[in-house]
Amino acid sequence: MDDNNILQCIVDYEPVFWSNQRENLISDIDITMEDIIDAEKRLQRFAPLIDRLFPETCGGIIESPLVKGESLKDELEKVYDTKVCGEFLLKCDSHLKVAGSIKARGGIYEVLKHAEKIAMDQKMLSKDDDYSKLANKEYRDLFSKYKIGVGSTGNLGLSIGIISSSLGFDVTVHMSSDAKKWKKDMLRNKGAKVVEYEDDYTKAVEEGRKQCEIDSMAYFVDDENSKDLFLGYSVAALRLKNQLEEMGIKVSREHPINVYLPCGVGGAPGGIAFGLRNVFKDNLYCYFVEPTHAPCMLLGLVTGKKSSISVKDYGIDNITEADGLAVGSPSKLVSNIADKLIDGIYTIDDEELFKLLYITKETMDIKIEPSAASSLKGPIAVKEKSRGIHIAWLTGGAFLPEKEYIKMYNRGKGLK
Ligand SMILES: Cc1ncc(COP(=O)(O)O)c(C=O)c1O
Repeated sequence: MDDNNILQCIVDYEPVFWSNQRENLISDIDITMEDIIDAEKRLQRFAPLIDRLFPETCGGIIESPLVKGESLKDELEKVYDTKVCGEFLLKCDSHLKVAGSIKARGGIYEVLKHAEKIAMDQKMLSKDDDYSKLANKEYRDLFSKYKIGVGSTGNLGLSIGIISSSLGFDVTVHMSSDAKKWKKDMLRNKGAKVVEYEDDYTKAVEEGRKQCEIDSMAYFVDDENSKDLFLGYSVAALRLKNQLEEMGIKVSREHPINVYLPCGVGGAPGGIAFGLRNVFKDNLYCYFVEPTHAPCMLLGLVTGKKSSISVKDYGIDNITEADGLAVGSPSKLVSNIADKLIDGIYTIDDEELFKLLYITKETMDIKIEPSAASSLKGPIAVKEKSRGIHIAWLTGGAFLPEKEYIKMYNRGKGLK
């Protein structure tokens, strides 16, 4: 399909697959493998602190399981009446400790890096110290003088809100109209301030950024531009490599990995794709997935307008039950480099998300949210010959309150 035809299908809310001819190299990007390793080392320095604050992490490293999804693959083949060649694995960020979603990776990393800088500037910390002392009263008192702000559709807010208040920061989360009530309630319970907007994600980010700019003690976590968020996400690739090795799975040119990543503003999937591309090079095919009603990254790439685009410019309403993906304009940082990272993007209808959410529970007993469910259609939606290993990145779900989840599950059951 040429770009004009695909544009018309996108505008008509039709699910599409767009293939990217990846010609440019990641060596053109001014972030490097050394930066990823530096981020991983920082997370290791912080492990004693995370272990003290969140003992459920067992050792202070926040990482999710990689599991085999054979029974789910069988069900997908039945539902879509097709064959999926190769192994099918699930990367369960849905069950990441501390914040319950992919956004825990970057969000927590950026706040920790900020805290490290403040403590080092005050000569209260050096790299060789036991970082668990950062939970002591004198550090909480220090951090309480500083403000942190973030704009979010929900899950980034949860991750920033939870880690910031656990360190003692004065944290405010600016939330778009798509953000679910339970996420706002949870944040308030954890001690974060929540500002609600009637408008979309882009507006929430803009307002949050503006308020932080006029306050010298405030720091804004910028989901549209932040290199630190990006690097926090990218570390997932190093961890995935180890997990594949532990499972005895060999990755090669003949046996590549095909990774499917749900995309909202693009920070989390962009950071992970960047990490994966550095680690697996050409033994990787990497795809983003967006809702048919919020395909901002796809529109940005197909039109070449990148982050200056809004789905609303094309009459697309940005209304989707995949709240984490309800974003009208893509990240500047990621949309500028996505063509070097990914092999394509597919879009998916909301109704399908519920069906996939339901069959994931039935076959694997894994609780996911609609945004996460989008990744499961990867091996079916990608219309290229794919071989090797398929990895659907389940990006969120464990924190969903049972009452909310049951409604989604029943909706999916009704559709099957
Ligand atoms: C569950 C879930 N999946 C995927 C994403 C996409 O991440 P990003 O907005 O960085 O593209 C989000 C974003 O909040 C999310 O909450």
